[in-house]
Amino acid sequence: MKIVVRVGGSVIVSPPNSTLISRYADLLKDLKRQGHEVAAVVGGGALARDFIKIAGELGLDEAKRDWAAIHVSRLFAQLFVMRLGEDGCGAVPVSLDEAFGCLKRGKIVVMGGLKPGMTTDAVAAMMGEKIEADLLVKASDVDGVFTKDPKKHLDAKKIDELGFDDLSWLFEENKHKAGIHQILDPEAVKILEKRRMRIVVVNGFKPENVLLAVKGEKVGTTIR
Ligand code: UTP
Repeated sequence: MKIVVRVGGSVIVSPPNSTLISRYADLLKDLKRQGHEVAAVVGGGALARDFIKIAGELGLDEAKRDWAAIHVSRLFAQLFVMRLGEDGCGAVPVSLDEAFGCLKRGKIVVMGGLKPGMTTDAVAAMMGEKIEADLLVKASDVDGVFTKDPKKHLDAKKIDELGFDDLSWLFEENKHKAGIHQILDPEAVKILEKRRMRIVVVNGFKPENVLLAVKGEKVGTTIR
């Protein structure tokens, strides 16, 4: 299968967690060993948001604040690339074409942000579109998609399966703002919906959930 793994910054970066980064690197290697083509996109988490704040305090505009966050995500992608060694691309791709080329050389792609005005969810969706991925797994900091934000509402219920048509509520606040934190960026959903790409949102604090999603086992929330 062609798989895009979107590793939430909220999982590996907030705060930076070397144990989890290491486990994800091993997981990506496992997937490659199993014969899958794997592209991972890592986010910048709380650290990216700290840099967005600093950039704001420096009077920098929205695009420049976004660039600060993009560089944070790329720094974590770089750690992955170094940890992956020969299995990785040797560098963090900064365009979809570069990422595609690396994948076609039989390597594991790990990238961060691409350009201002989006999140790494959108990057993952674009990468999925580019490689015609069979599956996008989002390793998030919650157990899946809920009826409401589970961090704010005790009565929020996890949804096991969703159709793309049910996702309109995700678009309620779809205006991009630096640091936007949603379970799935609406821009990403638009791309994934167009391609009808299967998405599974899982709790990323247990990396084995990603393997379960790849095996097609019941975990997190499946959107199709
Ligand atoms: P991320 O996509 O890095 O967030 O976006 P994250 O921490 O992984 O998210 P979750 O919470 O775990 O899902 C952080 C910010 O970085 C900028 C945007 O400001 C975004 O809100 N960014 C990121 C871009 O502008 N372009 C990109 O391609 C990526």
